[in-house]
Amino acid sequence: MSDLIVQDVVKRFGRVTALDGMSFDVREGEFYCLLGPSSAGKTTMLRAISGLERLDGGTISVGGRDMAAMPIQGRGIAMIFQTFALYPHLTVRQNFSYPLERAGVASSETSKRVGETAELLRVSHTLDRLPSTLSGGEQQRVAIGRALIRRPKLLLLDEPLTNLDAKLRHDTRAEFKRLHRELGMTMLYATPDQLEALTMGQRVGVMQSGRVVQVNTPRSLYAAPMNTYVAGMVGSPAINLVKGRVTRRNGGYFVELPFGALPADHWGMHLSGGEQVLYGVRPHDVLLGHEPSRGPGFDAVVHLTEPLGDVTLLDLEVGGAAMKMALPEERAASIGPGTEIQVTLSAADAHLFHAETGVRIA
Ligand SMILES: Nc1ncnc2c1ncn2[C@@H]1O[C@H](COP(=O)(O)OP(=O)(O)OP(=O)(O)O)[C@@H](O)[C@H]1O
Ligand SMILES: [Mg+2]
Repeated sequence: MSDLIVQDVVKRFGRVTALDGMSFDVREGEFYCLLGPSSAGKTTMLRAISGLERLDGGTISVGGRDMAAMPIQGRGIAMIFQTFALYPHLTVRQNFSYPLERAGVASSETSKRVGETAELLRVSHTLDRLPSTLSGGEQQRVAIGRALIRRPKLLLLDEPLTNLDAKLRHDTRAEFKRLHRELGMTMLYATPDQLEALTMGQRVGVMQSGRVVQVNTPRSLYAAPMNTYVAGMVGSPAINLVKGRVTRRNGGYFVELPFGALPADHWGMHLSGGEQVLYGVRPHDVLLGHEPSRGPGFDAVVHLTEPLGDVTLLDLEVGGAAMKMALPEERAASIGPGTEIQVTLSAADAHLFHAETGVRIA
């Protein structure tokens, strides 16, 4: 069953259309990520669900009830904002209990929930301290706790990790997954970071200019992006897109690229010959050396190497086309700028798109 259904939602700010016919649905108990670049409309969408924005069109329903007629307090929704703010003059314990006291929850119940929430988020040791004395990660966990303590049915999270350092982001991603598992709550998480969306989301909705353009599991989005926009948003480093043209000879289809022709019979039933295309191959699917069983091989020159730890990123020039490849670190040891190598483009993992529209050729 769907817990949240967003249908054709439009929201304008003067001449800016922040949400432009946005539709998606989140299932009960699901961890759903909205992935979109800055200005895509993520915050506006979450604020609209919370009841903080009046819609110019469309509907939002939660648990089968239309939100338009519901007061904000009765919605059973909590939101963690992009810039989380704790009450600086209140202790962690008071930050937790304040929303409950305001809601008229009995004090015995309040102290029970404060204890449970602090334990769940591993901030019990900070309860009598002021927020300014907490680490960034502890502050973030208190902000999460303050949203959870009211036991919302639906939790909205707006880029909650943006202000944390890399290590803390990693730990907190794991924390969110644990919380989701333990609380069985429906979570809607907005982020511009594809790593966050792909590692946490059970499904990911990819946003572009106020709309969701594709929804799927992380694995399926990666394997079959519907257009070049989604292909570029999902997967890091970003997919290589090389301009080419489809030709037909000897009864077979080929994509003519700057550095040679690649067989394209795999897409044959969707091709007629002559179309302008973009050939997409992910940096992880550019293989070192000649591997005829995996795909065609080409000569390449290395321009730049970028060791990232377990993988090394290589900037290549392949017959006049720039391309990136990702190599396991130990295989990149003897490769530096100027090295001439051979690469194989993995045929099974290639993607083909129409050049003009960017739409995937299935
Ligand atoms: N109150 C407002 N008044 C005018 N324009 C607004 C307002 N709120 C948002 N916008 C505009 O709506 C668009 C979407 O903004 P929104 O904050 O939803 O984006 P976002 O996806 O959350 O981006 P970010 O990742 O940078 O937080 C932007 O063009 C923004 O400038
Ligand atoms: Mg935002």
